[in-house]
Amino acid sequence: MTDFGARYGPWAVVAGASEGLGAAFARALADRGLKLILVARRREPLIALAEVLPTEAVPVVADLATEAGLDAVLAAASNREVGLVVANAAYSPIGAFVTLGLTESLRALDLNCRALLHLAHHFLPPMTGRGRGGFVVMSSLAGLQGSPPISVYAATKSFGAVLAEGLWAELRGTGVDVVACVAGAVETPGLVGSKAKRAPGTLTPDKVATAALRGLRRGPRVVPGLAMRLSSAVMSRLPRRTAIAIISRASRDLSPPAASSNS
Ligand SMILES: NC(=O)c1ccc[n+]([C@@H]2O[C@H](COP(=O)([O-])OP(=O)(O)OC[C@H]3O[C@@H](n4cnc5c(N)ncnc54)[C@H](OP(=O)(O)O)[C@@H]3O)[C@@H](O)[C@H]2O)c1
Repeated sequence: MTDFGARYGPWAVVAGASEGLGAAFARALADRGLKLILVARRREPLIALAEVLPTEAVPVVADLATEAGLDAVLAAASNREVGLVVANAAYSPIGAFVTLGLTESLRALDLNCRALLHLAHHFLPPMTGRGRGGFVVMSSLAGLQGSPPISVYAATKSFGAVLAEGLWAELRGTGVDVVACVAGAVETPGLVGSKAKRAPGTLTPDKVATAALRGLRRGPRVVPGLAMRLSSAVMSRLPRRTAIAIISRASRDLSPPAASSNS
C-alpha cells in the first residue's frame, strides 16, 4: 500500500465523479491505490469510468441534492471503510438573480452546501475515531467575492471554503486532513460547454486534482496554478467594488450548456 493509501484509504467517496474534475480525482486516487465509490446522476459515464479505472470502483447513481440520493451514498459506504471524501459535485444556476426561480437557487444550496454538510457529518467522526483520513472540498475563486451572474453559486462556494478551513483547524492533530481547493478556470465539460472565453491560466482537471491531493496534507486552502494564485492574491487586496467589477466582466460570457455548468 502507498503512503497515501495508508493515510486516506482503503475507500474514497468522489461526489460528482462522472466527468470533469470528479473523474480526474477518481483517476488520481485509483493511481494512488484507493478503492472508489463514484457518485453522480448519469449512469453511463459513471459505469464507463468505473470499468477503466485500475482499482475496485463502485458506481452509485444518485442525485446528491436529494435525501434519497444522500441515503444511497451512505448505504453504499456502510460496509466500507471510507478514509477520504472529495466533495466535488456542484450546481451553478446562471443568470440575473431576479430572473432565477427559487427552485434553482435552492438546488444549488442543497447540492453545494447541504450535501457537503451531510457528507462531512457522516464521514468525519469515524475518521477522527480511526485517527486518519481526509476531506477535500472543491471551491472556486468565484467564491472570494460577489460574482454576478453566478451570485448564488459563488456564495455557496464561499460557504464550502470557509467551512473547510474551520474543519481543518478543528481537526488539526487528529490525523484527519481537510483542504479547500479554490480553483480558477478548469477545462471541464461544464466550462467548455459555456460561452466563456478561455481565461489565461486555465488548468486541466488532472492538474487541479493533483494539486488538491498534494495540498491535503498541508491545508487549509490550495489555489492550483501560479496564475490563479497571483490572481487570487491581487483580488483579495483590491477594494470590494473593484474585485466585483472585475469578476463580473470575466463572467459575463457565461451561459448554461445543455445540462448544468460550474465556474
Ligand atoms: N470548471 C471550472 O472551471 C471550475 C472552477 C472552479 C471550481 N470548480 C468546482 O469544481 C467542481 C467540479 O466542477 P466541474 O466543472 O467538473 O463540474 P461539472 O463538469 O458540472 O461536473 C460536476 C459533476 O458533478 C456531478 N453532479 C452534478 N449534479 C449532481 C447531483 N445533483 N448529484 C450528484 N452528482 C452531481 C456531475 O455528474 P452528473 O451530471 O452525471 O450528475 C459531474 O460529474 C465543482 O465543485 C465546481 O464548483 C470548477
